Amino acid sequence: MPAISRRAQEALYPSVREMFELAAGVPDTISFAVGEPGFDTPKPMIDVAYQAAIHGDTHYTPNRGTAALREAWCRYRAKQDGTDYDPAGEIIVTTGGMEAVYLAMIATLDAGDDILIPDPGYANYFGQAQMAQANVVPVPLYEQNGFRMRAADVEAAITPRTRALLLNSPSNPTGAVIDPDELAAIADVACRHDLWVISDEVYRAFVYDDHVRCLSIAAMPGMKERTIIIDSFSKTFAMTGWRIGCAFGPKPVIDQMTVMQENVVSCVPGALQCGAVAALEGAADILSTMKAAYRANRDMVAQAVADMPLVSCNVPDGAFYILINVTATGMNDHDFAVRLLNEAHVVVTPASGFGSRGRGYVRLSYVGSAEDTAEGLRRMKAWLERL
Ligand SMILES: Cc1ncc(COP(=O)(O)O)c(C=O)c1O
Repeated sequence: MPAISRRAQEALYPSVREMFELAAGVPDTISFAVGEPGFDTPKPMIDVAYQAAIHGDTHYTPNRGTAALREAWCRYRAKQDGTDYDPAGEIIVTTGGMEAVYLAMIATLDAGDDILIPDPGYANYFGQAQMAQANVVPVPLYEQNGFRMRAADVEAAITPRTRALLLNSPSNPTGAVIDPDELAAIADVACRHDLWVISDEVYRAFVYDDHVRCLSIAAMPGMKERTIIIDSFSKTFAMTGWRIGCAFGPKPVIDQMTVMQENVVSCVPGALQCGAVAALEGAADILSTMKAAYRANRDMVAQAVADMPLVSCNVPDGAFYILINVTATGMNDHDFAVRLLNEAHVVVTPASGFGSRGRGYVRLSYVGSAEDTAEGLRRMKAWLERL
């Protein structure tokens, strides 16, 4: 066999997947490891996609997505936060938010350029940046600051080769929402250093407290022309398996992302795009049901952790994740997760897979039923008390 490329051999496989494999061999587990809604896609969206396929929507669509979906998504976005994007040129429908992030990286970075990535941050950012042949420069997030990104830490990480900054608010894995004043200061840093901003907003629908304002940096002065917003149906409408995401941004960069999309996947399946239009137009119910359930789970987890020995956490602002500090147990996050799995049958994710600053934390995803969440927390507390 000829040699496999160095880039492929060095590709990062998120270590967060390891727990799934280990958990498969353990009976009667409660999992806090899944990063997706604990709900199925509502039937009306499935019906629309099915009917579209039955009626012949089984062909390629335009590379940038169907006009119907682009128009509906731009309308939805404008209603949410007043940002105005032209469906003809300033949006591309992609294979999930993940492809949108990757296309945004390769459209803005040349080999050897630096990209600033939150640490701890979503594991796939690190692997994607490596595939894009960019250098990852971590922007540290601090527990004492609720893991909210600060402009001073962004500016301190900038080098002469920095071309892009990745923002993720609300964040996976921390649940933090960037404070509006800090976001304005980050926008100022991005303008002064002429950076692209890739703003991953896939959890934007999940912010739980009225006093927390989650703004898009694209809406700030001077930012629309340098921001690529990443959005997705996966979390907002419980549609992870449909693989529908998008990027909003300036037409020249969206046009180049469209060219690259043609080279790799051509387009997202047409019938699924029809189902996605139905979600935008009529799925407010699932969103409010999910949000109420996650909010109750978040409160339950934060309260339960406060009552557990040896561990602690901040109350997260949004998404559906919480980071728990396990350093006082004397175990590293990986050993903590493996022992918790084997001895208490509870699955959590060691956060060192989310960057070096994730060391000493585990991530809980609180998307399960209230009963499972309560049982998982009960097992975890009893296990910690026995240590
Ligand atoms: C922060 C973040 N961005 C993007 C994605 C991509 O989601 P999808 O490709 O399913 O839209 C995820 C998925 O877990 C995520 O956590």
